[in-house]
Amino acid sequence: MTSSAFLADEPATLPGWRFSVAPMMDWTDRHCRAFHRALSGRARLYTEMVTTGAVLHGPRERLLGFSAVEHPVAVQLGGSDPGDLAQSARIAAEFGYDEINLNVGCPSDRVQEGRFGACLMREPALVGECVAAMKAAVSVPVTVKCRIGVDDQDPEAALDALTDAVVSAGVDGLIVHARKAWLKGLSPKENRDVPPLDYGRAARLKQARPDLPLAVNGGLRTMDEMRARLAEVDGVMVGRAAYMEPALLLSVDPVLYGVAAPAADPFVAVATFEPYIAGVLQSGERLHAVTRHMLGLFNGRPGARAFRRHLSTHGMRAEADLDTLRTAVGLVSRERGDAREAA
Ligand SMILES: Cc1cc2nc3c(=O)[nH]c(=O)nc-3n(C[C@H](O)[C@H](O)[C@H](O)COP(=O)(O)O)c2cc1C
Repeated sequence: MTSSAFLADEPATLPGWRFSVAPMMDWTDRHCRAFHRALSGRARLYTEMVTTGAVLHGPRERLLGFSAVEHPVAVQLGGSDPGDLAQSARIAAEFGYDEINLNVGCPSDRVQEGRFGACLMREPALVGECVAAMKAAVSVPVTVKCRIGVDDQDPEAALDALTDAVVSAGVDGLIVHARKAWLKGLSPKENRDVPPLDYGRAARLKQARPDLPLAVNGGLRTMDEMRARLAEVDGVMVGRAAYMEPALLLSVDPVLYGVAAPAADPFVAVATFEPYIAGVLQSGERLHAVTRHMLGLFNGRPGARAFRRHLSTHGMRAEADLDTLRTAVGLVSRERGDAREAA
């Protein structure tokens, strides 16, 4: 398939949805997202999950504040009370988010106690009410990120029931993490690896619902794997691979959108990102708040380990500045090396 075939059917309602970086707690904070934007101008970026309780009662600017460079950027909400979700969605939309996403995939105990996240796969009618309430509150797209089922649910019936409910409520898109969550006995980390992936289930849903913008998530690491999925669905969402190997993002714009990347290589990306980091330092935050997300940038090149080590030790210090980063970058060879030797 030629690249233009991928470009033809970008879902009209969700620009930039062909590729997105997944919401990841503690990882995709605003500095991470700004860094990812230096590597892809087109990727849609998601916040960490923010609970409705935090949005309604917490420090809003700290939780929801973001920089204009991040657009298109989506906020992910966690909750299951339609009224609270509507209010939180309205607040997030006022902050300028381009999309409001509801978490129906997180399996942690804390989230289960709050009766939201993946356990909502068992309550499609309630998820429909939540989506309807959010849709009524905002004009930006409202999407849902879900699993294909939980525990002993039949993925065919469970995902169909959830889809029916959210489509009736007017959802603008669905992101399917293509594996079940096992709510008892597995940690959240195990729940990202142990239940088997089933991309076929997402593909069947797209066939049954051609009008519903559908993105698939889970286990995607290479552009070839993403292209294979994009032959079946409208979008791919990538989590760990994007975070651990951020240079992957440099291929997103040329390969999936047919436009040039914002930077020719990781070295240029760091240079263009410097003014953002300077602003962060000026606001009193430490270098590490930004560079902790950059540690994997040079993986595969000789000097990658020295880069990581320099930033991990020196970047934490209160006096660390752009020179600390430049010194770390200077330890990396500009020649591509053997990944094994560089790891
Ligand atoms: C550190 C970490 C935190 C995560 N936090 C969230 C979250 O807040 N909300 C969510 O929907 N998924 C969360 N996830 C799951 C990812 O969004 C994604 O569904 C999962 O990692 C599978 O995609 P991947 O194989 O591309 O990483 C998290 C994953 C990781 C690794």
